[in-house]
Amino acid sequence: MVCEASLPRHIAIIMDGNGRWAQQRQLPRFSGHKAGVDSCHRIVKACAERGIEVLSIFAFSSENWKRPSSEVNDLMGLFLLALERYIEDLHQKNVKLRFIGDREQLNPSLQQGIQAAEALTQENTGLTLVIATNYGGRWDIIQAAKSMATAVQAGELCVEDINETLFEQHLITQDLPAPDLLIRTSGMTRISNFYLWQLSYTELYFTDVLWPDFTEQSLDEAIASYQQRDRRFGGFLEQEEE
Ligand code: FPP
Repeated sequence: MVCEASLPRHIAIIMDGNGRWAQQRQLPRFSGHKAGVDSCHRIVKACAERGIEVLSIFAFSSENWKRPSSEVNDLMGLFLLALERYIEDLHQKNVKLRFIGDREQLNPSLQQGIQAAEALTQENTGLTLVIATNYGGRWDIIQAAKSMATAVQAGELCVEDINETLFEQHLITQDLPAPDLLIRTSGMTRISNFYLWQLSYTELYFTDVLWPDFTEQSLDEAIASYQQRDRRFGGFLEQEEE
């Protein structure tokens, strides 16, 4: 178990490598995604046990529609199945679910499942699990800009009052702390349009482990790496000045 000092409040994860995990076993890609859901459940439980406040997972990006439609359909079906299968358990563990992204493109049954899961868990006070589905960092920035422009047009906001704090209040993550630690699995070292604004001062951690193989121990290694970083937020540590 990790040391409790300086635990990240918010961990964000890009869960990559399901397809390659399946390929290595001569299994269809769908088996990799199914194993990815099990991995998700394991890591959500582990984060809750370790006292992490927020876990954000990138389940489906705005760009993932470019995948073959059979895989997109499989993924959408799997998300709904996973919700139905795990929602009671997550609720019992006091996890609060929150979905971010453009919901309108999702099929109606998934939209209903999402709404029901959020309603059931909205009073929970443990881990907040943010599931980014049809989410893109650019989409988030654009919708924030539109929302501010609408407020300016309505005479509710002066252009001169726009600053970073106000901009953040229009992002979909307005009430969440910025991620302290971003983990990406499977050896890829890019952000892939996940939280763009929000990752400005986040510590990045890349591992070769494929997402279905990511265990509690892998999580603890990532947290331990985070705990050794000097976070400066563009400034410097006082003792360095002396
Ligand atoms: C990347 O693997 C993973 C995804 C496209 C996201 C799918 C995520 C899950 C199935 C787990 C999340 C589940 C829920 C219910 C939130 P990839 O296909 O890009 O792998 P590859 O790079 O090896 O092909």
